Amino acid sequence: MVPAPGSAPAPAPARTFDARAVRAQFPILREPREQPLFYLDSAATSQKPDAVLQAMDRYYSTCNANIHRGVYAIAEQATAAYEDARRRVAAFVGAGSPREIIFTRNSTEAINLVAYAWARSTLRAGDAIVLTEMEHHSNLVPWHMLAEEWNARGTAIELRFIPITPQGELDLSVLPALLADGRVKLVSVVHVSNVLGTINPVVEIARQAHAAGARVLIDASQSVPHLPIEVRELGADFVAFTGHKMLGPTGIGVLWARREILEAMPPFMGGGEMIREVKLSGSKWNELPWKFEAGTMPIAEAIGLGAAVDYLTALGMDAVFAHDRELTAYALPRLAAIPGVRLMGPALERRAGVVAFTLEGVHPHDVATVLDRDGVAVRAGHHCAMPLHEKLGVPASARASFHCYSVPEDVDALVRGLHRTRHVFGS
Ligand SMILES: Cc1ncc(COP(=O)(O)O)c(C=O)c1O
Repeated sequence: MVPAPGSAPAPAPARTFDARAVRAQFPILREPREQPLFYLDSAATSQKPDAVLQAMDRYYSTCNANIHRGVYAIAEQATAAYEDARRRVAAFVGAGSPREIIFTRNSTEAINLVAYAWARSTLRAGDAIVLTEMEHHSNLVPWHMLAEEWNARGTAIELRFIPITPQGELDLSVLPALLADGRVKLVSVVHVSNVLGTINPVVEIARQAHAAGARVLIDASQSVPHLPIEVRELGADFVAFTGHKMLGPTGIGVLWARREILEAMPPFMGGGEMIREVKLSGSKWNELPWKFEAGTMPIAEAIGLGAAVDYLTALGMDAVFAHDRELTAYALPRLAAIPGVRLMGPALERRAGVVAFTLEGVHPHDVATVLDRDGVAVRAGHHCAMPLHEKLGVPASARASFHCYSVPEDVDALVRGLHRTRHVFGS
């Protein structure tokens, strides 16, 4: 559990790398502003370094052209830059081949791709899908839609849920029972909770799921940006992540899947680029990965993501994670010491750089509004995890989250702001 209020706060982090030097490479954190910015909402979206902005700008200003089509020089340069980004992303997450990297708009689209292309062609009436109570809506709603669609036509699909413990961890003791009847065809689990920060034991979950004959999808939206990840070591079949949380631009995400699974899957969306041959009577699909990339793709965004993974690689993902951890260790006791603050989530050693909390007697939206007056940016609401909040018995929470550019002063500003919030609301 988090440290009890009043326990001695951890000292300021001994920096694993120089977060101040990192900040100097992020224009939004570097440029002078009327009011200081204490950005504590990296779980919603991360800030972008010069290297990413410059890579996108370079594409638009030197070789803007559509890819895989033109035979002229800048079209070939654009294609090379786009495919090079795919290779960098593949290397970053330890994919077996760049062909296993499918570019999507975001994690949500990556999960929907699995729901439409794989699940709708693979599942049969009576099959079941196991999810957890701590999923983001993007790993719940696509399965609700599938279940509703199938149930409406009389071919029922069952959704089952791994419950959470009061400490905000998955209660894996029930997993064997959930898998026991052999009807589960997919186990789809978030790696790091965007609310609780919990790091789930996905390797063990994948092991049990595979032993029961199920495929495994991991929503790695909050883990790939912060932890060293080798997709093949997770034991998953599908891994979804999103560029804008990992220092890249919005509009680009990734589905990684094992090649033989992708080969066997039908396409998701139809249109240009994903075909090998089209006749009026029908079409043949392109090879991987382009079979799943219909229409003009977000070219500049993929190139920006390539630059983001280079940047993260240069920092070192071990160092990024250690930095997040140190800031979390710094934040937890300081927040816990504020009267009325209730921290959510497990003990430090089982969590990433996300700290959600409530302040007694003050709605999280009001907390965030008062904090904003001091330039402290936190998220407030249900964080796209309504069932999780319902389970925890709170309608909403406030959330602070870190990345490589976060510094102890951000946490100090949050703590000052929370004392001020208590004062404003007389709580
Ligand atoms: C755990 C988790 N899954 C999925 C998503 C969805 O990401 P995107 O909106 O980029 O698709 C988020 C975004 O907050 C998330 O935190």
